[in-house]
Amino acid sequence: MKRLLITGGAGFIGSEFVRQGVKRGFELIVIDKLSYAGDMDRIKEVEDNIAFYKADITDKNLIEGIFKKEKPDAIVHWAAESHVDRSIMDASPFVDTNVRGTQILLDVAKGSDIEKFINISTDEVYGELGEDGQFFETTPLIQ
Ligand SMILES: NC(=O)c1ccc[n+]([C@@H]2O[C@H](COP(=O)([O-])OP(=O)(O)OC[C@H]3O[C@@H](n4cnc5c(N)ncnc54)[C@H](O)[C@@H]3O)[C@@H](O)[C@H]2O)c1
Repeated sequence: MKRLLITGGAGFIGSEFVRQGVKRGFELIVIDKLSYAGDMDRIKEVEDNIAFYKADITDKNLIEGIFKKEKPDAIVHWAAESHVDRSIMDASPFVDTNVRGTQILLDVAKGSDIEKFINISTDEVYGELGEDGQFFETTPLIQ
């Protein structure tokens, strides 16, 4: 697995994955819509070593075009509306990107030769820590 398609690669954590991926010799195709949370300065040091697309993952035609052109082996999906407090003010961008955008990526990936789809999530989906103070992947989501 050599060619990785990274979404949200200009974000806080996605950008570190991009920098590390380049160092480790992967060929990276990075998609980011550069929202208020995206910053190209984070990946400036590797920008000559990646293919970068300023694109929104909710734009299915655009995403299909990128898959067809770049033919990635795997996808690592970091793009998200990630600041929970903002969802209290307006949940619609969260539904758009986190739900609809993820579904579009899954649909496009299904119609391609992708070997692996890695979806990044957060422990916040488990809610408050219970009495035993631990989460597991089998813990029910938000009780
Ligand atoms: N930051 C943390 O400490 C942390 C911890 C655990 C899990 N996570 C998870 O990791 C993922 C990324 O977190 P982060 O902190 O890097 O987030 P971030 O908000 O810093 O970055 C998100 C990136 O996604 C891009 N983006 C948003 N909507 C998009 C869209 N529709 N199309 C294309 N690009 C879009 C933004 O421009 C930004 O560059 C999230 O799922 C988050 O829940 C983060």
